[in-house]
Amino acid sequence: MSRKHTISRRGFIGTGAAAAAGFTLAPRIGGRALAAGEDASGRSRGSIAVASANGLAAVEEAAGRMHAGEDALAAAIAGVNTVEADPDDITVGLGGLPNEDGVVELDSAVMHGPTHRAGAVASLREIVHPSRVADLVRRTTDHVLLVGDGALEFAKMYGFEPQSLLTDKSRRIWLYWKQKMSEHDDWIPPPPEEIEPDVRRLVDRLTGTIHVSARSGEGDLSCVTTTSGLFFKIPGRVGDSPIIGAGLYCDNGVGSAGSTGRGEANLQNLCSYQAVEFMRAGLGPADAGLEVLKRVTAHTKRADLLDDRGRPDFGLKFYLVDKRGRYAGASMWGPAEFAVCDDDGPRTEECVYLFERE
Ligand code: GLY
Repeated sequence: MSRKHTISRRGFIGTGAAAAAGFTLAPRIGGRALAAGEDASGRSRGSIAVASANGLAAVEEAAGRMHAGEDALAAAIAGVNTVEADPDDITVGLGGLPNEDGVVELDSAVMHGPTHRAGAVASLREIVHPSRVADLVRRTTDHVLLVGDGALEFAKMYGFEPQSLLTDKSRRIWLYWKQKMSEHDDWIPPPPEEIEPDVRRLVDRLTGTIHVSARSGEGDLSCVTTTSGLFFKIPGRVGDSPIIGAGLYCDNGVGSAGSTGRGEANLQNLCSYQAVEFMRAGLGPADAGLEVLKRVTAHTKRADLLDDRGRPDFGLKFYLVDKRGRYAGASMWGPAEFAVCDDDGPRTEECVYLFERE
C-alpha cells in the first residue's frame, strides 16, 4: 500500500448558536454529520482500521492483514504491537511513562465482534505486549480482566519474558517530573538550559494511548486499546483502557469505538459503549462521537476540570467505525487528527470536535 499523509477534512464551520456555545460542527447532510467513508449509495466498504494519531503504522499493519484475510481483531492487535514495541512512543508498552515511583504499569483490552468476547489486563508490569496477554485472557479463560501480579504470572505461564520497560528516555522524563514537582521537597530542578527540549516538551502531557478499531471486508468488527496510562499516576491506578465499555467497545451488528485521553471521564460515562449505542440509534460515527463528548461535558462539574468558560479543560478523543465502514475521529478539542487506513492507504485525517483551542 502506498503511504499517504494528512488529508484535510476542514470546513468544520462553527455557526450560529452552536458557535456561540463553543461547539464546532462537522459537515452536515440532511441534519446529520457526514461520516468519512460514506458514499451516496450507502454501500458497504472494504477493510478499514481507525486509530489515534500515533497509530499510523498500526492502521497500515492492521488493514494490510485484513486485506490478506486475517481476522479483524488479530489484525488490530498486530497493528498496536508495532507501537507497543516502539521505545520512542512514551505512551504505550516499552518506553511508556511510569507511575510516580518510576514503575511502568500497563493497561490493555481487546474485544472481538463476531464472538462478543473480551479480554483485558490492568496494572501489568514488565511485559511489552499487554494486548497479546489481554487476548489470551479472552481466548483461554472464562474471565475478562486480570490485574497486577495475577496478570504477570498469567503472562509468564504463556512464555512472555519479563523485562524492564523503562527506557533511558522515559526515565529522564520521569526524573525531571520528580525534580520540578514541588518547591517543598528536597529535589532541585536543573537550570532551564540543561533541560533537553524533548523532556521539557513531553513532561507536561498527561496521557497517551493507542486505540485501533477495525472492520474487515466481510463487515466484522473488533477493537483493541493499549496504554501505559496516566503519566506519573498513583501506583495501582487503572484507567479506562482495560475496561470494556469505557475505553473500547464493539457490537458486531453496529459498530466499534475506542478512546484516548482522560480515562476517568470515560469510566464515569461508559463512553465507548455509549458511542456504539448512539450508532445503534442511527447516528453516524461523527455524530455519535460528538454526542458522547457533549454528555461528558454536561457531566463534568468539578471546577478544577473546567476552563474559565465552563468547558472541560482536558483532552478526550474517540475513534469510531460502523458496520458499513463509515468512520470518524471525534475530539473534545480541535484541531486534532486521527489515523485511518482503507483501500486508499494510511493517512491522518482531521477529527470533528466540540471546542476549538484559541
Ligand atoms: N485513556 C488512558 C488512561 O486514562 O489511562
